[in-house]
Amino acid sequence: MMDYTDRHCRYLLRLLSPHALLYTEMVTAQALAHGDVERLLGFDPSEHPVALQLGGSDPQLLARAARLGEEHGYDEINLNVGCPSDRVQSGRFGACLMAEPELVADCMRAMIETVRIPVTVKCRIGIDDRDDYPFFERFVATVREAGVSVFVVHARKAHLQGLSPKENREVPPLRHEFVHRIRVRFVETDAMGIVHHSNYLHYFEETRVEYLRHVGHPFTEWREAGLESPVLESFVQYRRPIEFDELITVHLSLADVTRATFQMAYLVTVDDADGVAGVRATGVTVHGCVTTAGRPTRLPAWLTAMAPR
Ligand SMILES: Cc1cc2nc3c(=O)[nH]c(=O)nc-3n(C[C@H](O)[C@H](O)[C@H](O)COP(=O)(O)O)c2cc1C
Repeated sequence: MMDYTDRHCRYLLRLLSPHALLYTEMVTAQALAHGDVERLLGFDPSEHPVALQLGGSDPQLLARAARLGEEHGYDEINLNVGCPSDRVQSGRFGACLMAEPELVADCMRAMIETVRIPVTVKCRIGIDDRDDYPFFERFVATVREAGVSVFVVHARKAHLQGLSPKENREVPPLRHEFVHRIRVRFVETDAMGIVHHSNYLHYFEETRVEYLRHVGHPFTEWREAGLESPVLESFVQYRRPIEFDELITVHLSLADVTRATFQMAYLVTVDDADGVAGVRATGVTVHGCVTTAGRPTRLPAWLTAMAPR
């Protein structure tokens, strides 16, 4: 953290936590090219394991900075693709780089080819109005191609227009998703031996019901309050088939909330043998809110308050 995690702060943190991986403040590749390298990179041996976080978008400058970090004994190099400040944007690095995954991949490739220690990325889940899953997926997939296997994700999108870095830490709500696991039963497969397309809606429903329980407002509470939440629209995109006995993970996030409707977004993944999640399907359901007499009514206040901004 800028202006916090200097070597003195990290020394103290190490006393408090003997094993945590510590990160430096973001150090720009430009500063390392022109500044006092010893002052910027010096640290106490007790700080290990410690990662050097770099800022920049010039592959060659970053590669040189990463080499300096390795020579100084850092255990990991991390590229900052999460900082939203204006100063950082004008230097074309930080969170605005999420819009340029190919450039981030070039930067990562240049560093990976230069050092032997791990090179990782810290990013956001999106920037401005580009916060849908396909945007994030394309970013991760493109950067992964460069050989990156660790992404540290700050689960808020960054507003690059009109918000200060301080507001960016507080205004965009955290988008930690709800995750629910389901083992595929034989009865759910069809004549092709794969999960029948209609079952995905059942998986979504099961996940949704568990999510509402998780946030402290089980669906039974709605019904006790005389409310129903009928499905107005549903959409499923099938990417790859799922078979009997596979363990699927349904990720759910509240995607949109209006006065009378809410939208849930779903991502269905299955882990491969290495634990890497592969996308099998994505989906959306849109719900209304009606009284038991079927009359449209406002959503409960707690749900409106959870709306992603
Ligand atoms: C003062 C301050 C400086 C920060 N500097 C950095 C930084 O240099 N590199 C970085 O990756 N994140 C930085 N962050 C972001 C934090 O590491 C972290 O992602 C965030 O504060 C945790 O989430 P939240 O505050 O949005 O809940 C900074 C945060 C603050 C408050």
